[in-house]
Amino acid sequence: MTLIDGKKLSKKIEDSIALEVDNLKPKGVVPGLAVIIVGDDPASHTYVSMKEKSCKRVGYYSIVHKMPDTITQNEIIETIEMMNNNPRIDGILVQLPLPEHIDTTKILEVIDPKKDVDGFHPYNMGRVVENLEAYAPCTPAGVIEMFKEYNISLEGKDVCVVGASNIVGKPMAALLLNENATVTITHIYTKDLSSHTKKADIIIVGVGVPNLIKEDMVKDGAIVIDIGINRLESGKLVGDVDFENVSKKSSYITPVPGGVGPMTIAMLLQNTLTAAKSRES
Ligand code: GUN
Repeated sequence: MTLIDGKKLSKKIEDSIALEVDNLKPKGVVPGLAVIIVGDDPASHTYVSMKEKSCKRVGYYSIVHKMPDTITQNEIIETIEMMNNNPRIDGILVQLPLPEHIDTTKILEVIDPKKDVDGFHPYNMGRVVENLEAYAPCTPAGVIEMFKEYNISLEGKDVCVVGASNIVGKPMAALLLNENATVTITHIYTKDLSSHTKKADIIIVGVGVPNLIKEDMVKDGAIVIDIGINRLESGKLVGDVDFENVSKKSSYITPVPGGVGPMTIAMLLQNTLTAAKSRES
């Protein structure tokens, strides 16, 4: 069994981004990221502060707009429009989920697609599906980077994606299809989850259910990618996979923490760098 080390790979990507930032400086370009966070969900605040710290590490300009959950939709839209028009800002990220009174689709559609470094705007999502140049959502893009780093070919592989969210499962399936994998997407209405996972060469799960994927659901030698991040009552962070038992059967597996999580941030930095470089032209 080989552990896929997302922490190490993300550090390698961050280091090469930091070098590129140095090279951009003489041209007067400092990549800039604006983050909008609404409400006081502790997990969201943790993610945002991790993103902020990563920006600092690689030398980006970053600003965080913290808004109370009493904020109106229009006030959020005004802030996004301000960022759309701010030449120092290359990327805009609205941390999800948003409070219930806010229409998430409307908010995401206000972001200038050229600054949509999270890849959640329908314009970028559509281009990802069509295998065109686009900002791909960071978590699935990070998973693809892991496969590349470990020389795992996706062509013709049977991949089972567990979870069909707009931010993980659906774009993950599109990116896999673009790599010529045979993709099955399962979700809460799937009749018999293990009948699909058992057949898969690769299982990618991101639904937020601890221990959902157990050893009897995985074939020998499968590759298992765990996107879940769950905090147990004990305070321990775990994924969606019963790591201890599934790792014994798998050929490659990602740990939680230290697997996909750091890759999400690395891809955010990568997308923001791409946006900043396109500013030059
Ligand atoms: N909420 C959970 N994951 C993400 C992410 O990758 N980006 C944003 N903006 N919100 C999230």
